[in-house]
Amino acid sequence: MSDDKLEVLADRLRRASRVTILTGAGVSAASGVPTFRGNGGLWRDFRAEDLATPEAFGRNPALVWEWYAWRRALVASCRPNPAHEVIAQWSREFDRCTVITQNVDDLHLRAGTSHLIRVHGSLWDLSCWGKCGAEPWRDETVPLAAMPPACPSCGGLARPAVVWFGESLPGPALDAALEACSCDAFLTVGTSALVYPAAGLVHEARRRGAFTAEINLEPTPASGGVDLACLGPADQLLPNIARRLTS
Ligand code: APR
Repeated sequence: MSDDKLEVLADRLRRASRVTILTGAGVSAASGVPTFRGNGGLWRDFRAEDLATPEAFGRNPALVWEWYAWRRALVASCRPNPAHEVIAQWSREFDRCTVITQNVDDLHLRAGTSHLIRVHGSLWDLSCWGKCGAEPWRDETVPLAAMPPACPSCGGLARPAVVWFGESLPGPALDAALEACSCDAFLTVGTSALVYPAAGLVHEARRRGAFTAEINLEPTPASGGVDLACLGPADQLLPNIARRLTS
C-alpha cells in the first residue's frame, strides 16, 4: 500500500466537514471474528446464504440457532481491534461523523463508537419469530438459558433480530444510512461489497458528490467505482491514517 494513497485519504478526511464510514466483516477480522466470505467463512459446510434466511430458520430453527449460539460465544470472547478503536475515536472527535455497519457483533459499540447505524441488527437482540407484537429484546447471556430461546411475551419461538437474506433493512436505519450518503468523504472498510442495499451506499455517496475511498484486503466490485482504493488490513491502515491526521 503506497504511502501516497494514505496521505491523499488523510488529507481528504482532514478537510471534510462530514465523514461517513461503512464497515463490514473485515473490520472485525483482526479481533478473531471470521468473515462470511473467503477463508474460514464457512460454518461446518454451510455458507451464510444457506443459514441466514427466513426459509432456513423455518425449516430448521435448531440448526440456525446453533450457528448463532456459536457466533455469540465466539464474539463474546473477542475484543475490539485497532480498526474499531480508530473509527470510534473519529466518530467522537470529528464534528460530523456517521458510522454505518453491516456487522452484528457490536464490537463498534464496545469500542465506544457514537453515531452508529447498525443496518443488519445485532447478534445480541432477539425478536418473536411468530411476530406476536413483542418489541425485540436484548439477551447477552452465553450460553443462552434455553435452546432454542422463547419469546418472553407469547412463549413462542424466538429468532435472532438480525436482517436475513430476503428481508428488508429496518426503515429508520436505512433512511439514516441514506441520509449519511450526503457527506464530503465516504469510506468503505472491510466489506466484500456484494450484499445490497449496503453495497450501494458508496455509489450513492459518490453520486451526491462525496470523495469515496475503500480499504480492503483485496479488490471488490466497489474498487473500480471509488476515487481511491487502498489494499491492506484495516487494523493497520486506519491507525496509519489516524497518525497522519494528528501529526
Ligand atoms: N482488513 C480489511 N479487509 C479485510 C480484512 C482486514 N483485516 N480481513 C478481511 N477483509 C475483507 C475480505 O477481503 C472481504 O472482502 O473483508 C471482506 C469481508 O467480506 P464478507 O465476508 O463478505 O463480509 P461483509 O461484506 O460484511 O458481508 C456483508 O453479508 O452474510 C451477509 O449479513 C451478512 O453483513 C453481512 C453481509
